[in-house]
Amino acid sequence: MTLLIKNGRIITADQDYLADILVEGETITQIDTLIEPRNEIEADEIIDASGKYVFPGFIDPHVHIYLPFMGTYAKDTYDSGSRAALLGGTTTLIEMCCPSRDEDLVEAYELWKSKAVGISACDFSFHMGISHFDEDTPEQINRIVDDGITSLKVFLAYKGALGVTDDELYQTCKVAKELNLVVTAHCENADLVAQLQNELVAAGKLGPEFHEPSRPVTVEASGVHHFCTFLEMTGASGYIVHTSCRDAVEAAMPFRARGVDVQLETVIPYLVMDSSYAERPDFEGAKYVMSPPIRDVSHQRYLWDAIASGTISTVATDHAPFDFAGQKEMGRPPESDFTKIPNGIPSVQHRPVLLYSYGVATGRIDLHRFVELVSTAAAKQFGMFPRKGTIQIGGDADLVVWDPTYKGTITDDTRAMDTDYEAFEGFEITGRADVVTCRGQVSVRDGIFVGELGHGQLVPRNRGG
Ligand code: URP
Ligand code: ZN
Ligand code: ZN
Ligand code: ZN
Repeated sequence: MTLLIKNGRIITADQDYLADILVEGETITQIDTLIEPRNEIEADEIIDASGKYVFPGFIDPHVHIYLPFMGTYAKDTYDSGSRAALLGGTTTLIEMCCPSRDEDLVEAYELWKSKAVGISACDFSFHMGISHFDEDTPEQINRIVDDGITSLKVFLAYKGALGVTDDELYQTCKVAKELNLVVTAHCENADLVAQLQNELVAAGKLGPEFHEPSRPVTVEASGVHHFCTFLEMTGASGYIVHTSCRDAVEAAMPFRARGVDVQLETVIPYLVMDSSYAERPDFEGAKYVMSPPIRDVSHQRYLWDAIASGTISTVATDHAPFDFAGQKEMGRPPESDFTKIPNGIPSVQHRPVLLYSYGVATGRIDLHRFVELVSTAAAKQFGMFPRKGTIQIGGDADLVVWDPTYKGTITDDTRAMDTDYEAFEGFEITGRADVVTCRGQVSVRDGIFVGELGHGQLVPRNRGG
């Protein structure tokens, strides 16, 4: 198959020019500026991108697809999840592989991988969750690294379930340093969360609006400080997932100033929602319960500045989809309470368009920063660059033809994620992924999924970014 994308305005993290792109098989083989007359190329399919941007395929470095969690399972499979991702222009997912404390790491990795291989329509990789550490763990990590997995994941939250002890955290960071792997971390002080939850529930404060007060910004900042201390002592490289507030970002800054290699991620709900969402009446607020919680609007404003300035390097989703009926309702008072609401928001579909609409279209970030935040920085951080994360000859033909003039509204009818609600319902959007290619395969055309389940592949990643 050859595919020719004509007349598009190519936008990467550092370039902006008009050119035609030739794709042969899975790879970009030619990029010619329009002034050259010799670029009349025979192609099986020609896509006219006049008046449109051509972006590198977007990369979501933090999603959950298969997730046994809080007494239930996240709703999406790679069937629904990868379609939803591609519809938004996301061509590569990095999923958190989250074994429980008593699960064998290699078996867990194979299980998580089996949910994606042969099913996913987009490319994928995993951050390997380390939920306990014993004498077999280094050898098991080595075997997983041999499969192209070059980052680990630790939870400082979810005590007794996914969370690690300090001994385990230290050993994990040591191995990461030795093998040149990035340690990604969910940073909240688990003991403080447990204390505050108990106090609130004992006081009869049961609704979803008490989720945020049970995990205040200081609890997150404490987790960040704790994790960075371990990075500093071991020399490992770290990546803090879903940073929700000013306090957490500021806790990392002194470590960075001292030379600790720590990068920060935020996620799209924190940029477009605020703590009032979890206060919605009739238990509606449960739809917006995630951890760390969505903060008040002053933090939202701070995060926009931090992504614009480069203090925060990536915008992911932390896609963690649970139905309202039967799942979020597990925490409905008066029989139950907010501590039983499965944490997470379905979001893998809408991250790029929300960042574009509320970032680029409003002038908060420019097109290059947009590409960096949704694609390039994750490709670099997690060892996929320049195969992914940019547009260049020899790279994977993961491309998004973006219509900047499209205007619309997110509704439950446009939802491809397999939940019974659309968290972003009613959000006005500017721009749309018209055509999306994943390694040369046209997967979205006119905003409609036309891809192929099973086309997606595990992306072998390099160490050390
Ligand atoms: O609320 C969240 N974030 N749910 C998914 C699990 C996690 O902590 O990333
Ligand atoms: Zn430019
Ligand atoms: Zn988390
Ligand atoms: Zn997560």
